[in-house]
Amino acid sequence: MPNSNDAASTVIDPVYVTESLIAENIDAYLDQHQHKTMLRFITCGSVDDGKSTLIGRLLYDSKMIFEDQLDALAADSKKSGTQGQEIDFALLVDGLAAEREQGITIDVAYRFFNTEKRKFIVADTPGHEQYTRNMVTGASTADLAVILIDARKGVLTQTKRHSYLAHLIGITNLVLAVNKMDLVDYSQDVFDRIVTEYTGFAKSIGIEAFVAMPISGFKGDNIISASPNTPWYTGPNLIEHLETVEVNSAIDAGRPFRMPVQWVNRPNLDFRGFSGLVATGSVKTGDAIRVLPSGKTSTVSRITTLDGDLDLAQAGQSVTICFDTEIDCSRGDIIALAENPPQVADQFETTLVWMADEPLHVGRAYWLKLGTQTVSATVHAPKYAVSVNTMEHIAVKTLELNAIGVAQIVTDKPIVFEAYSDSRTLGGFILIDKITNATVAAGMLNFSLRRAQNVHWQATDIGREAHAGLKNQKAAVLWFTGLSGSGKSTIANLVEKKLHRMNRHTFLLDGDNVRHGLNKDLGFTEADRIENIRRVGEVAKLMADAGLIVITAFISPFQADRDMVRSMLPGGEFIEVFVDTPLAVAESRDVKGLYKKARSGELKNFTGIDSPYEVPVHPEIRIDTTNLTPEAAAALIVDTLLGDA
Ligand code: ADX
Repeated sequence: MPNSNDAASTVIDPVYVTESLIAENIDAYLDQHQHKTMLRFITCGSVDDGKSTLIGRLLYDSKMIFEDQLDALAADSKKSGTQGQEIDFALLVDGLAAEREQGITIDVAYRFFNTEKRKFIVADTPGHEQYTRNMVTGASTADLAVILIDARKGVLTQTKRHSYLAHLIGITNLVLAVNKMDLVDYSQDVFDRIVTEYTGFAKSIGIEAFVAMPISGFKGDNIISASPNTPWYTGPNLIEHLETVEVNSAIDAGRPFRMPVQWVNRPNLDFRGFSGLVATGSVKTGDAIRVLPSGKTSTVSRITTLDGDLDLAQAGQSVTICFDTEIDCSRGDIIALAENPPQVADQFETTLVWMADEPLHVGRAYWLKLGTQTVSATVHAPKYAVSVNTMEHIAVKTLELNAIGVAQIVTDKPIVFEAYSDSRTLGGFILIDKITNATVAAGMLNFSLRRAQNVHWQATDIGREAHAGLKNQKAAVLWFTGLSGSGKSTIANLVEKKLHRMNRHTFLLDGDNVRHGLNKDLGFTEADRIENIRRVGEVAKLMADAGLIVITAFISPFQADRDMVRSMLPGGEFIEVFVDTPLAVAESRDVKGLYKKARSGELKNFTGIDSPYEVPVHPEIRIDTTNLTPEAAAALIVDTLLGDA
């Protein structure tokens, strides 16, 4: 067994050793490795916490099974003065390929080692300022994170930051490695104090469990065997723990079956199979499956792999699945068990880690790539960003490099997804700039904002034309938009009176009134306003379906939301009426005294003051209230509406 101090300074590339075994006895090698599970983990900590030493130590100590070769190599490298290759070539290539695929520059070194029980890949991420991006890249596939703490320094801001990121990315196995125990005389007191402090913090950010161990990477304490220097510590040593924790693929195997289709395999007319990597769960021949998003069903007739047919395929396996009927299924679709399919939606709450120098542009379309699905997506203004140092929620207008924030995303087509907490494959995505093709963010889907995915449309016999026909009219939605105090309600009210006198069936939905009932749970944050308009849009649509002429008077400050309501209605039925009153005029009228309150800071998020109003791009009708009386405006609107009818 090599002497500890030497080991810390000499890093031997385990691949050397592995390769020599391959050359000598390929069967023995294969046998040894085929049935081992793989654990991917990351190490994080501040710059001086001893990360490199620990990794060197793990690489070195774990080579027990090849001890002879190692000793020989160590002797060789000392003689020749070389340190051996530090980086596993295959994995480096792997890392580079991943980088190319994602179009981002990562500096994460992947190192490979193995023990008798397991294979390991450790992502070695540098601890400098741009750590967020690196760590996200390294952690996105990790089963476990080792959070290193310098026993002399205790829990630092960096410790919290990295723990938060690891937790955010969904790493459930956390090891709190209290390192450099040799420098605090292996004091149980010091260890206990750090663990107590960390426990409090961990709870506050939702980390349910972690394993704490006192170690010394330099001296080798509790790395591969119980250290005589810490008789008070009865937990596992690091390697032992790494060898036995449950890996993600085992956890994934217990989840419902999902396989994203990577390609359609059709070598000849007799064979048509769908190839991909099983993301979660398992499937067997004879199972009833459903292809999403189409929802078409069939039965699995055959499961093939390069090594022959299987009766059952499970998470982590690459397979080709054949169905017993011809149904549409193509790249990007998801195959799931018929009785337990994932959800399909086009609006989500997401957590984003911004990874580009260029900040997030709210409202701009990005490509959203989730597994094999790629769609166009726009991001709403963030609800908040999280200070990774203090865990506070901060109000922000955008996300800058390395920022983490929560924002709604709307996709142009429904995607098949699961919450990130249930599936990294179907819940994790990246955003790509459409012009530069650069990856600008990594994201996690928290939940969908429409909860109607399991509700199917029920056809009814009396349609919308029938409803309107009985009233001798054509349904329409007159959508008033404009600043508070612009005159929306006044004009809308006059319009309704006019139409009513003409025997038209109308209904007026007014912001202040709806906010007393249906929307009384909503305030004036951006998210609440979006929800306000979404609900009002749905109600207006139902009323238009019932054949009514609906008049709405809401500030509705965002173009995207007005457009969303427009897209819910048949062409021509949505009439956007922009009540154009300059801010100064609305403010000078100040009918409800709200502008005064907003100016004094008593009222927050007031439209036009500290909350934006997006002027309609192409309204059907624009009312210049500085030129038209409310009566004249109402007449113009009614004429336009009925002229159209
Ligand atoms: S919207 O932005 O979500 O469309 P909505 O039209 O429902 O707003 O409600 C606006 C009305 O709420 C205003 O006419 C005003 O009377 C009142 N109000 C109270 N607080 C605010 C605020 N912060 N910003 C705008 N309007 C407010």
